[in-house]
Amino acid sequence: MDELKQHNITLIGTATTVREAVENEKAGMDMVVMQGSEAGGHRGNFIDGHQESLVGLMSLIPQVVDNVSIPVIAAGGIMDGRGLMASLFLGAQGVQMGTAFLTCIESGAHKVHKEAILNATEDQTTYTRAFSGKWARGIKNKFIADMLEHELLVPDFPVQNLLTQVIRKTCSGQNNQDFMSSGLDRVQD
Ligand SMILES: Cc1cc2nc3c(=O)[nH]c(=O)nc-3n(C[C@H](O)[C@H](O)[C@H](O)COP(=O)(O)O)c2cc1C
Repeated sequence: MDELKQHNITLIGTATTVREAVENEKAGMDMVVMQGSEAGGHRGNFIDGHQESLVGLMSLIPQVVDNVSIPVIAAGGIMDGRGLMASLFLGAQGVQMGTAFLTCIESGAHKVHKEAILNATEDQTTYTRAFSGKWARGIKNKFIADMLEHELLVPDFPVQNLLTQVIRKTCSGQNNQDFMSSGLDRVQD
């Protein structure tokens, strides 16, 4: 970090709780991305466990801005200008958006995944660690359902991630959403 700072590189960390945000500031991060429980994919929690880190963004932002002095970037479930304005109003200095951009023309996500996002309703996402061994929010599919009873037994990240890699890439090549984790599982990877 010292070397990066010497080169005037801005450092941005991630956090999912107030405690983690405070640690980011103490460690010397210039800004912190607060990932609410709404966020798609993995989140960067590093002190608190999955259950403790499930704070919604709307309640998270005010508590974090009251406890740190570095700029807070809000992330999780922000899809348009309304989410952006709400985050700024709550005290964030900016927002980070992930899922919304997965569906862009420029995005390298698989077309099956883009369609799944565009067609999904608000009740179709869930948390799973079946794909990577780390909890992540994704759209429910056959793999998540089939693995549900083994969820807590699968090895931690990155072992499980490696074990499911072939499954994910094969399904990606077959345009089969049943066993894909994210649209980033491209066959050519
Ligand atoms: C496919 C995908 C993979 C992600 N992987 C990571 C990751 O490895 N580490 C991380 O801290 N956040 C990860 N994120 C979360 C984003 O950094 C961001 O917090 C999140 O996308 C914001 O919520 P939104 O998707 O609702 O806009 C990922 C998001 C997506 C959609």
